[in-house]
Amino acid sequence: MIPRHKIDEILAAVSIEEVVGEYVNLKRSGRQLRALSPFANEKTPSFYVVPEKQIFKDFSSGKGGNAVSFLMEHEHFTYPEALRYLAKKYNIEIEEEEYTSEQKEAENERESLYIVTKFAEDYFKDQLHDTDEGKSVGLSYYKQRGFTNETIETFSLGYSPNKWEEFVTASKEKGYNQEYLLKTGLIKKSPKKEDHYYDGFKGRVIFPIHNLSGRPIGFGARTLLTDKKVPKYLNSPESPIYNKSNILYGIYQAKGEIIKNDNCYMVEGYTDVISFHQSGIKNVVASSGTSLTPGQIKLVKRYSQNITVLYDGDEAGIKASFRGVNLILEEGMNVKMVIFPDGEDPDSFARSHEPEELAEYVKSNAKDFIVTKTEILLKGAGNDPILKAGLIKDIVESIAKIPDAIARSVYVKECSTLLDIEEETLFSELAKIRKTAIQKNARKQDYDNYEAPLQVAEKPKSYEAFESNVESQEKDLLRILINFGDKNISITQETEGDEESEEIIEVGVAPYILHELANDDMQMSSDVHNQFLNEIVEMVTEDNWNIGRIVNHEKPEISGLAAELVTSKYELAKWDLRNIRVSQEDTKLKRAVDGALYSFKSKMVAVLIVNNRTMIKAAQDSDDYEQVLTLLKKQTKLDEIKASLSKPTGRIILS
Ligand code: UTP
Ligand code: MN
Repeated sequence: MIPRHKIDEILAAVSIEEVVGEYVNLKRSGRQLRALSPFANEKTPSFYVVPEKQIFKDFSSGKGGNAVSFLMEHEHFTYPEALRYLAKKYNIEIEEEEYTSEQKEAENERESLYIVTKFAEDYFKDQLHDTDEGKSVGLSYYKQRGFTNETIETFSLGYSPNKWEEFVTASKEKGYNQEYLLKTGLIKKSPKKEDHYYDGFKGRVIFPIHNLSGRPIGFGARTLLTDKKVPKYLNSPESPIYNKSNILYGIYQAKGEIIKNDNCYMVEGYTDVISFHQSGIKNVVASSGTSLTPGQIKLVKRYSQNITVLYDGDEAGIKASFRGVNLILEEGMNVKMVIFPDGEDPDSFARSHEPEELAEYVKSNAKDFIVTKTEILLKGAGNDPILKAGLIKDIVESIAKIPDAIARSVYVKECSTLLDIEEETLFSELAKIRKTAIQKNARKQDYDNYEAPLQVAEKPKSYEAFESNVESQEKDLLRILINFGDKNISITQETEGDEESEEIIEVGVAPYILHELANDDMQMSSDVHNQFLNEIVEMVTEDNWNIGRIVNHEKPEISGLAAELVTSKYELAKWDLRNIRVSQEDTKLKRAVDGALYSFKSKMVAVLIVNNRTMIKAAQDSDDYEQVLTLLKKQTKLDEIKASLSKPTGRIILS
C-alpha cells in the first residue's frame, strides 16, 4: 500500500511530457505536444499531450489519461507499479520509511524465499547440464520428449538427482535457512528421524514457475518412473511468494507475445506450454492442474481481451471446464475454444505435426465459446426435453455473465437459432438470471457515498437495451461539468412568495446541474459515470474545485474518461488551428447546460418509465401489491418529470 500523501507527492512531482517523452517523440504544436500514436499504426500524428492539464489523449485508439494511466497502458503496469516507477524517476522514497516493522519483516521473508528459490533453480539447472546423472537421465528425458536446447534454456528446465540428501547438503553448505527451504517445499522433514531432512523433488525433472518479472517462485517436478503409485507431478506448496491462483505457468515467457498477437492460448499443463512455444506459438500459458481462477484471468486481461482455451478431445474434461470459462466471460473478455482430435492433447498434437500444421489447426478450429458450448450440450441432450431445458438454463447462465448488453443480445439471437427456441424465451430467462445476479451485487456496490446534500434515486435495475442510448447524453453532461463546472450562469427564478415576479440570479454550473439531477432523483446508468459524478459532488460540497482529483483518479476508467472529456477532438482541433483556447462553449454556456440537462433527462425518463413498467408487471405477476403500489407512485413522479420537461427550463426554485 502506498499511502495517499505519497501518491499526492508523486503526482505533484510528475511532468507528463517527461514521462511520455521517454517513449514517444513529442513535437510541440501550440499549447500541446503531438506525436504518432504509440498504441496504433498511423501516418498522421493523433496522439496529444496537454502539459497544462497533465493529460494525454490518443485519438486513434481512444485511450487517454494522466502519466499514471499512460504507464499502465504502455508498460502494462498495475497502478502501484506505475506509481513506484514514477517515484523512482522523481527520486521519491516510498518503501523503506513507510513500512511498519511487521511489513518489513514480511518483506524480508519474501525476499529470502525468492533467494532460496532462485538458488534452487540454478542448482537444478547445474545438475541437469553439469552432472553425469543429470545428462544421462534428465537431459535425455527432455531430448526424448523433443525439447531443444533453446527450449530447455527458455524455460530454465532442470533436474533433481535421485539421492535423498543432495539438495539438503548443497543448501546447507551455502548457509540457507531451513525454515525458508521447508516453506518452499524444497526440503522435507523426515517422518522417522528427528532433525532429519530430505530432498523434496528427488529424482524428478524440474519445471520452474516464474512470476511476471521472471523470478522463479515455485516448481513443478515430474517423475520419470511409470509406476502408477508414484504421483506424476509434485508441485511446490503455496507460499508468500507463490500464490497459485494469481499466476499462470509460462506468463513470463508469453506476455510480450500475448500483447503482439492480442490473444492468449490457455492450455492445461507445463508440457503443453513448452511444446507450443517450441512450435512457434508463444502466446500460451497454463493454469497447471488447478481450475482457472479470477486472478489468473485478470493476469491475462492485463495484456489482451482475448483468450482461446485449448482442450483435448475428452468430452467429460471439456464439460468440466465450462464453469471456469464463465469466469472469463464475466471479465468481459472474448473467449474462443479449440478442441483437439480424440486422444490428442495440445502437447502431443504439437509434437506430431509440423509448426505450420499446428498454426493452421488452431486458427481454423478456433470457435466461439458459447456457440460451441451450445453445440456440445445439444449433442449430449438429444431429444430429451428435461435435458434440453437444463441446457438452455446452462447456456443462458453463460450469456448472462457477459457485461456488454449488445454482445448478450447477439448471443441470444444466435443461440435461439441453434436451440430452435424463441428469442423471447431466452431473453426472459436471461432477464431472470441477471436480475438475481444484479440484486446480489447491489449490496456490494458503493452508493452510500451518495448522501446529503444530494438525494439520489436508487439505481435502475435493468437497462438492457437502453444502456448504450443514455451513455452519450451522460457523457455530454459530464463533459460540461468537468470543463465548466466552476463557471457561473444566470438563471431566472421566482421571487420567493411572489409567483408573478421573477429575478435573475447567478449560480455555479456544477451546483446547478447537481441540483437539477437530485431534484428529479436521477443518477447515471453506469458505475463509472456515477463515481465520476460523485467526485464532482464532493468537490462542490467541499467547495474546492480541483479537477486534478478526477484526472488523476486512481481508477483508470475514471481518469481515462476525464482525459477524454477535457480533450474533445473539437477543442483540440481549434487549439491546433489558432493556438489559443476557443471558448465558444463558454459564451453559450447556459444553452449548452440546459440542452445537455434536457437531453439527459428526457432519455433517462424514457428509460426509467419503461423499466418501471416492467417492474410493475413483474410485481403484479408475483402478487406483490405493496410493491405495485410503490412502483405506481414512482410512475406518477416519472410522468410528472416527463411533463415538466416540455416546459421552459429554469423552472426549479433554488433555495
Ligand atoms: P500429462 O499427464 O499429459 O503429463 O498431463 P505429461 O508430463 O505430459 O505426461 P505424458 O508424457 O503425456 O504421459 C498434462 C499436464 O497436466 C499437469 C501437468 O502440468 C502436465 O503438463 N499435471 C498432470 C499435473 O499438474 N499433475 C499431474 O499429476 C498430472
Ligand atoms: Mn502429456
